[in-house]
Amino acid sequence: MNSVIAIEATSLGKTYGHVTAIQDISLTVHKGEIFGMLGPNGAGKSTTLRILITILPPTSGTATILGHDTVKEAEHVRSLIGYVPQERAIDRFLTGREHLLLLGDLYHLPKAEAKQRINQLLQLVDLEEHADRPAKTYSGGMKRKLDIACGLLPNPEILFLDEPTLGLDVQSRLRIWAYVRQLKEQGITIVMTTNYLEEAEQLCDRLVIIDEGQIRALGSPNELKTALGGDSLSLTLKQVGEHDFQHMSNELESFACIRHIQTTANGLDIRVDSPEKALPTILDVANKVNCRIEGIEYHRPRLDDVFIAHTGHAIKGGVPDEVTE
Ligand SMILES: Nc1ncnc2c1ncn2[C@@H]1O[C@H](COP(=O)(O)OP(=O)(O)OP(=O)(O)O)[C@@H](O)[C@H]1O
Ligand SMILES: [Mg+2]
Repeated sequence: MNSVIAIEATSLGKTYGHVTAIQDISLTVHKGEIFGMLGPNGAGKSTTLRILITILPPTSGTATILGHDTVKEAEHVRSLIGYVPQERAIDRFLTGREHLLLLGDLYHLPKAEAKQRINQLLQLVDLEEHADRPAKTYSGGMKRKLDIACGLLPNPEILFLDEPTLGLDVQSRLRIWAYVRQLKEQGITIVMTTNYLEEAEQLCDRLVIIDEGQIRALGSPNELKTALGGDSLSLTLKQVGEHDFQHMSNELESFACIRHIQTTANGLDIRVDSPEKALPTILDVANKVNCRIEGIEYHRPRLDDVFIAHTGHAIKGGVPDEVTE
């Protein structure tokens, strides 16, 4: 792992009136890594990101980008970073190329340099062929690619991506993941938010799990899964008697072979050290409380198990609106 520090946040907090959006957020991002913030809707991901990119002052705490304070040296910080917001208010009547040219003017890029750089970026995100069509005729995936090209125009050392693939279909999502990996290979540090578990797992070198404005866990996807320990058994149950799944869960809790239980819509998710040792107990208890086991699925810990273990609930809001390209 590269040990040069790109971002250091210390005890960041932000309140809006009586609403505490985030509290006590401390994290370190290393240069050259893809760092993720994983959390459900309203967790505080965008708020944290907006503080880091200087557009939102924190209520408490401090943050530095490549050693520069996000409040006291905001202007300098802005010259080091690129930002792709969750929702970009761009004029879809302009063509893709015109968007980039306009942005080049805002960044005071010399015309010739801007033109050359825009051609390279359009090539990178596969938009060359569509560059001279109005952006309003673009598909969701194409618009997102244009957003990313806009974020890359200032040639940033650190690129912030807020929900880079929200609402995209699987193919577009995979393509965006490929660009992000390509950018990392070029040495750009990436900080991204997501509420897709798979995206965090596939793309991020390290990540924080954020829930209700606080960091619940930090590590690489593998570290987080390994730290959890145990294997998971998902039971699909059918209630036969008067007792519900919760009753079975209560009965099982006291056994030493059971590490953690979570009720689900169809049954129970149970984490155990050894499935061989735990299964006879589970079958006995199901029998005793009159729950019929209709299916048992066994798997090694996944990132969704990590999320549940650290937050007490499953991640919500991960269902995308499919946008086809
Ligand atoms: N301008 C604002 N005024 C008041 N409350 C706000 C404001 N912006 C955000 N919040 C609140 O702060 C909390 C965190 O919001 P934030 O946008 O950071 O969440 P998020 O993790 O990015 O969620 P999403 O996945 O939906 O984008 C939420 O409770 C939100 O309602
Ligand atoms: Mg957000």
